[in-house]
Amino acid sequence: MSDDLFKKLVSHCKEYGFIFQSSEVYDGLAAVYDYGPYGSELKNNIKKYWWMSMVQMHENIVGIDSAIFMHPKTWKASGHVDAFNDPMIDNKDSNKRYRADQLVEEYVERKVMKKADKEIEKARKRFGDAFNEEEYKTTNPRVMGYLEKSKTILTRLNTSLTNEDLEDVKNLIEELEIACPESGSRNWTDVRQFNLMFNTQLGTIAGEAGKLYLRPETAQGIFVNFLNVQKTTRQKIPFGIAQIGKAFRNEIVARQFIFRMREFEQMEMQFFVKPGEQQKWYEYWKEARLKWHTAIHPTESLKFHDHEKLAHYADAAADIEFKFPFGFRELEGIHSRTDFDLSAHQDLSGRKLQYFDPEINENYVPYVVETSIGLDRMFLATMGNALQEETVPDADGKDSTRTVLKVHPALAPIKCAVLPLLKNKEELTGKAREIFNSLKSSFNCQYDEKDAIGRRYRRQDAIGTPFCITIDFESLEDNMVTIRERDSLKQERIAISDIEKVVSERVDMKLLFA
Ligand code: GAP
Repeated sequence: MSDDLFKKLVSHCKEYGFIFQSSEVYDGLAAVYDYGPYGSELKNNIKKYWWMSMVQMHENIVGIDSAIFMHPKTWKASGHVDAFNDPMIDNKDSNKRYRADQLVEEYVERKVMKKADKEIEKARKRFGDAFNEEEYKTTNPRVMGYLEKSKTILTRLNTSLTNEDLEDVKNLIEELEIACPESGSRNWTDVRQFNLMFNTQLGTIAGEAGKLYLRPETAQGIFVNFLNVQKTTRQKIPFGIAQIGKAFRNEIVARQFIFRMREFEQMEMQFFVKPGEQQKWYEYWKEARLKWHTAIHPTESLKFHDHEKLAHYADAAADIEFKFPFGFRELEGIHSRTDFDLSAHQDLSGRKLQYFDPEINENYVPYVVETSIGLDRMFLATMGNALQEETVPDADGKDSTRTVLKVHPALAPIKCAVLPLLKNKEELTGKAREIFNSLKSSFNCQYDEKDAIGRRYRRQDAIGTPFCITIDFESLEDNMVTIRERDSLKQERIAISDIEKVVSERVDMKLLFA
């Protein structure tokens, strides 16, 4: 997906009712979005695909739907009150706020790595097929210099952040002469830690005691319910608890459309295992989750990024990265979280959160392997991958350009459009309505009689409808209709009585598991 295609994707999402900016009539609210009619259908289908693969198809995974508000001690135990921070810095002239680490990283990308990339591209052109990029990077003095500079800056940034040495982060910004993109000035405040949790107040209790947080992840609702779920469902370890729900983060820099939002949705699963078996299950879930993605996205758009620097509670972590237009970025995280969360809740609440293992006759706090994916990021990846422009013959046989959303039929917002050939022929529209009414309880259908048939096909292509059914005069005689397939443009005549079966088979979620 190129930069240009990304811009088209954003405007396509708005024009065709997938995504609108929140409170647009008031000029919007930054990094908050509303899903429109087709967007909410697509989003629901992605959720369904996840839920089926995680809950329905695993005997040992059950789902819950926990509340967004939780006891404030939850967030103390989880570490979010003390450590869910980003380093921020303000520019005194523009009054704009930035993430200090991102300012440095962007400097490295734009001012250092871009030069290295330019040199590499020049050499690639010069040497042609004989070019060996890896060798060039380790032998060309200029490229080696850029790579070394980038490494030095990023290592210093990491060390300063790990040691909470925010003064040095500011020194680094000053030494690199990083200017505010808005004002162009270098008039910076000090770097401070900024907690990403939104808070609100319980109506009945004044002051600190009534302070509540909007959950920044859904996972903690699973942890505190661990024993409730295990006892009521009589699950034996290893088993998992899954949930889909809203999460909120007061991101300092929220941009790239729905990639980084302040209100978003997560699909998370915590898999409880016997201590010592976490590595095996971590590897299992890495592979299983990658497979889930490859049913929708091309393999070359996906890769693992293993974390070298681990969070204090993790003993292994990896991201599944997707090739977004701005490069490979995290789409999903798989984390081996040890017994950190359950132990922390056990300590702070004073309640035992242990499992009695009948096989070894012992109680223990289970270890946890987590899979966590952002639903909105998955939506962005799915749309980005599916949206295409191509040249196809139009109704007169001439070449024309069409915008088509080649989303998997099982995920498509509308499965089938029912189109009478002409609008003002009662016998055609009546028959088409009859067919539409007979299909609408089986899958999402749309009835459309406005405009020429070619234009109606294009409208359906743009929202990703995999099948269009056209009712013509012959249909009145032979009870057959034309079914047009979105991607191949193939048209065939089928019996009206077969439409439901033919479409159902081709839009079935089961196809994604084949
Ligand atoms: N429970 C673990 C957890 O929350 P995370 O890496 O912070 O881990 C998991 O988030 C996933 O949630 C990410 O891989 C990403 O897809 C999504 N996500 C995180 N922050 C987001 C944001 N501000 N906007 C949209 N999606 C976000």
